[in-house]
Amino acid sequence: MRIALIGYGVVARNFHEIIEEKKDEIKKRYGIVPKIVAICDRGGYVHSRRGLSYEKLVKVKEETGTVASYEGGIRGARGIDMIDEVEAEVLVEASVANFENGQPALDHIIRAFERRMHVITCNKPPLALAMPSLIEMAWHYGVEFLYSGTVGGGTPFLSFTSRALRGNNVKSIRGILNGTSNYVLTQMLERNLSLEEALEEARRLGYAEEDPTLDIGGFDAAAKLVILMNHAMGERVTIRDIKISGIEHVTLDMVKESLKRGRVIKLIARSSPKPQVSAEEIDVNEPLNVGGTLNAVSFDVEGLGEVVLIGRGAGGRETACSILRDLVELKDRLSLKGLWT
Ligand SMILES: NC(=O)c1ccc[n+]([C@@H]2O[C@H](COP(=O)([O-])OP(=O)(O)OC[C@H]3O[C@@H](n4cnc5c(N)ncnc54)[C@H](OP(=O)(O)O)[C@@H]3O)[C@@H](O)[C@H]2O)c1
Repeated sequence: MRIALIGYGVVARNFHEIIEEKKDEIKKRYGIVPKIVAICDRGGYVHSRRGLSYEKLVKVKEETGTVASYEGGIRGARGIDMIDEVEAEVLVEASVANFENGQPALDHIIRAFERRMHVITCNKPPLALAMPSLIEMAWHYGVEFLYSGTVGGGTPFLSFTSRALRGNNVKSIRGILNGTSNYVLTQMLERNLSLEEALEEARRLGYAEEDPTLDIGGFDAAAKLVILMNHAMGERVTIRDIKISGIEHVTLDMVKESLKRGRVIKLIARSSPKPQVSAEEIDVNEPLNVGGTLNAVSFDVEGLGEVVLIGRGAGGRETACSILRDLVELKDRLSLKGLWT
């Protein structure tokens, strides 16, 4: 399976490393021989029909800052140029997340569809902004579109609904979908820290970005809610349909007052009655009351009632693992259609 990769940051490098480490096992267990034939970063791209060496690429990237310095690489070329040039079955889009307009990832995904390439992505904004259209486009071009790494790379919430709950309708979703804000709220509750102090600690420990607006402001959770609603409930929503507020206004006094009433404040993403993300009080005994950086999602399932899944969010390694899961899923889907040779 020939793979073209956009981005060579934390996730993409971890993915390349995993493919390298586990290639014998992947071949033996799943019958897949993955070959990375092209990689692009901001400096340009490199393409080799024979496949690109992981050791050489990492060295070149570290020494020169771009994969385009690899033998035969093209400096200054863009992701779109690489997609037009490359002969590959799959595009893995792991470039930077841009919540303003989803670019450049959105264009990469669409161009790959047009070239009849299957797409795997861990990039949330294109889906948050245009998931219903992207799903239709993939269908139109007869290609597969997989995105496990966008929600719960560390805990497979998405495949839980599409695999384990097959045949059972998910009526609504409610959950904690952002580990950073959950960490901050937990530290406020357990250690009497102010929001600023808890946030500073989250930064120091690498749980929060230098600019944590997307996490604390609820946008990351809203993007994940959009993806879950489209995937698990068949709702055709985008982030514009979600009412979003964050936890910036939550004070230590509010947290303490809630606890006196047997309740805790959490950043909750919910699909109903109207899709929204906001700081809410929940009962301390609710299964959704998870601490630290944990995520938790409660699915209201027809015939089953409430099903709750709790687990870790994702770092670079977990997200890379989710791309591998998508690769295996892709092979299964193509086999079912008689398209796997
Ligand atoms: N890291 C995680 O834990 C995690 C978890 C879930 C989802 N994600 C998502 O996965 C994606 C990758 O994350 P990451 O942590 O690997 O990010 P990263 O380390 O910042 O890497 C981003 C990569 O994208 C490349 N890039 C930026 N603009 C580009 C452009 N115009 N054309 C081509 N390449 C471009 C960068 O190139 P340069 O190397 O030249 O700068 C870099 O290699 C993001 O969308 C992120 O939100 C990450």
